[in-house]
Amino acid sequence: MSLPFRKLHPTFVAEAGPIDLRDVHDEATLAEIRAGMDEYGVLVFRDQKLTDDEHVAFARRFDGELHAKTGSRVVAKNRFGNEALTDISNVGADGELLGYEDRRRQYSLANRLWHTDASFEDPPGRYSLLLARVVPENAADTEFADMRTAYETLPAEMKARIEDLRVHHSIAYSRQTLGFEFTPEEAAQLPGAIHPLVRRFAGSSRKSLYLASHASRIVGWPLPDGRLLIQDLRDHATQPQLVYKHKWRVGDLVIWDNRTTMHRARPFDDTTVRRELRRVTTLDLERATA
Ligand code: OGA
Ligand code: MN
Repeated sequence: MSLPFRKLHPTFVAEAGPIDLRDVHDEATLAEIRAGMDEYGVLVFRDQKLTDDEHVAFARRFDGELHAKTGSRVVAKNRFGNEALTDISNVGADGELLGYEDRRRQYSLANRLWHTDASFEDPPGRYSLLLARVVPENAADTEFADMRTAYETLPAEMKARIEDLRVHHSIAYSRQTLGFEFTPEEAAQLPGAIHPLVRRFAGSSRKSLYLASHASRIVGWPLPDGRLLIQDLRDHATQPQLVYKHKWRVGDLVIWDNRTTMHRARPFDDTTVRRELRRVTTLDLERATA
């Protein structure tokens, strides 16, 4: 088949389909979706009806191995019994809304910082597949930033300056900037990882900035200099014209490439209004298929 893509933003993001991802098993269609990801960085699929198991199974078919070393696993047991299925919701195991003081809520508030999923691990996350099950009537949107256009619109001197830099990513660091502290035992399970600041991968001829609120320091640089550079690059990458805001509908499955985008959740009245999404993230390993 030939899968239609409709652009939702001038530089990235497209809506794909109509298509029911439960039915996508053939390599040709999977390859079309991967090519769409390489081109657009974010794809929106409407009206998806995947169960949790089907969601996990699709992520495996699509991209292979799954990320399960989440930061949340050290804070609370996964309520679905599968660490590859990340609970992006504001409810606890009993189905009740989490209160202001709940540590799981305070942990998840950091999704409101600009980030890429699992950049604090090695291998880091490649694709994230986020499925909306319950969404509030009022906006509780997710924003995405186009990190390839961000790279391309840097001044030439800046491109030259950052070309070979490497960055340490730590979820303990990003949480700490909001006043959330892991215990020493928790932090020991989350040492962080080092990744290049400028990346290019096989499917794209374009370079991308690889940044996140997890970015704690530039390897070999003094802390203040490194943090200021990271902050300047993040400000550059999140200018309004480089940002797409996704307004969720129930059944939306949004897939983003963590190598070419950053994202953040927007605030809503989360202690009184229910919002439930589930995410599966794949690992950025070499792909076996051609
Ligand atoms: C995520 C995430 C943002 C949101 O699922 O990785 O950051 O709006 N979600 O829930
Ligand atoms: Mn995220």
